[in-house]
Amino acid sequence: MYKYILLAMLTVLSINAAEIKEDIEIPYIPYEVKMGEHFDAVQANCLTCHSFGYVTNQGPQSKAFWRGKVEKMIVHFKAPITDADSANITEYLYKHYGNGKEK
Ligand code: HEC
Repeated sequence: MYKYILLAMLTVLSINAAEIKEDIEIPYIPYEVKMGEHFDAVQANCLTCHSFGYVTNQGPQSKAFWRGKVEKMIVHFKAPITDADSANITEYLYKHYGNGKEK
């Protein structure tokens, strides 16, 4: 019986020891997904493997950069994306996350 009481006391003590007293501040990270033409193609073809953060993390980029990324997903990671969808996705990415340069 005493064994169980001791065990219960030790459990309570260890839980208390792990308590954190300071305030925890969680940083705000803007993570903007822009709605627009062909976003449906992005949703259907890109968000199956990873989050949209992979796109926003790249910062503004050229059309060639985005075309290359879509190609990379198809060639290296075997994403099953049709030619029409890949062209539309490149347009969407460049329009919303582009830097105004073709190359
Ligand atoms: C079949 C799975 C798959 C699909 C579908 C996919 N990706 Fe990826 N993607 C990956 C993998 C795997 C990585 C690399 C992850 C890592 O390095 O941690 C990646 C990484 C990325 C990166 C980071 C930069 C880089 O070169 O690694 C970007 C940007 C990206 N993907 C965009 C897209 C876009 C846009 C689409 C839709 C056209 C897409 N992905 C669809 C698997 C996929």
